Amino acid sequence: MNILKGKVAIVTGGSSGIGRAICEIFCEEGAKTVIIGRREELGKELEKILLKKGYEALYIKADISKEDEVKSMVNMVVGKYGKIDILVNSAGLVKMGNTHEFPLKDWNEVLAVNLTGPFLCCREVLPYMIREGRGSIINISSAAGLRGVPKVAVYSSSKAALIMFTSVLALEYGPYGIRSNCICPGPIDTTMLKEVGRFHGIDELEAKENAKKNIPLQRIGEPREIAKAVLFLASDESSYVNGSIIPVDGGLTAGRFTVAIGKR
Ligand SMILES: NC(=O)c1ccc[n+]([C@@H]2O[C@H](COP(=O)([O-])OP(=O)(O)OC[C@H]3O[C@@H](n4cnc5c(N)ncnc54)[C@H](OP(=O)(O)O)[C@@H]3O)[C@@H](O)[C@H]2O)c1
Repeated sequence: MNILKGKVAIVTGGSSGIGRAICEIFCEEGAKTVIIGRREELGKELEKILLKKGYEALYIKADISKEDEVKSMVNMVVGKYGKIDILVNSAGLVKMGNTHEFPLKDWNEVLAVNLTGPFLCCREVLPYMIREGRGSIINISSAAGLRGVPKVAVYSSSKAALIMFTSVLALEYGPYGIRSNCICPGPIDTTMLKEVGRFHGIDELEAKENAKKNIPLQRIGEPREIAKAVLFLASDESSYVNGSIIPVDGGLTAGRFTVAIGKR
């Protein structure tokens, strides 16, 4: 299939984890894919791999929490490709700690990446989508944005705010033909999950085993399983989907309470 043929897509946080899987699937489906991240070695490496496979990919180094860097990144994309059809806000940061001891610096840093970053990217991209009379914005929130998770007050709050930001975008820009939707992943096998384990003083395996206990499908998700849902929202296959908040979490948030689930 080639369901994104001719489309230009920006993926923030595109050089690792979920964002990387999104870049891969977008390229496979024919999109000109722009990978955004701060770590140049990771971004360049992915760009090289994708180009070698014959795909159209471009890495641009940018910190999405910095207004000038987002502006120049968007200008570069439009300068090269002439338009932007898809924006995926996948870049994200988690910092853990007791709320009564949490440093203001960390609070502000998480908000800057998880909420201000998507705002800046949308603000700079929207004029080009309005000009085309079409576009698809996909925000990567979290199951932690749908219900509270202890020790991640700012992460949970930022992800809940990103859900509301998506709803506002859907209302404000639907009339311009621009669709805005949000995916809320459950625990996914990336370095972010390792960091959560590290905070609790347990290894990756134990962190995964603990996370699995609350998931009806009884396993951790793979980045590609999020990418497939994002692909649907990015493509014209979802032409009537706007303002949807979609958990992709193995059923984690289907129940109201967190319970240890057995096989029977
Ligand atoms: N893994 C999970 O279990 C899980 C669950 C629910 C939701 N999510 C969400 O899914 C998204 C992707 O997370 P992941 O699991 O794939 O984690 P990851 O592998 O750590 O990816 C995070 C990405 O964000 C980029 N990033 C961080 N700060 C940035 C900044 N200031 N400017 C530009 N890029 C920045 C990082 O690249 P650089 O460091 O190179 O900048 C990295 O590529 C996040 O929004 C996360 O909150 C993850």
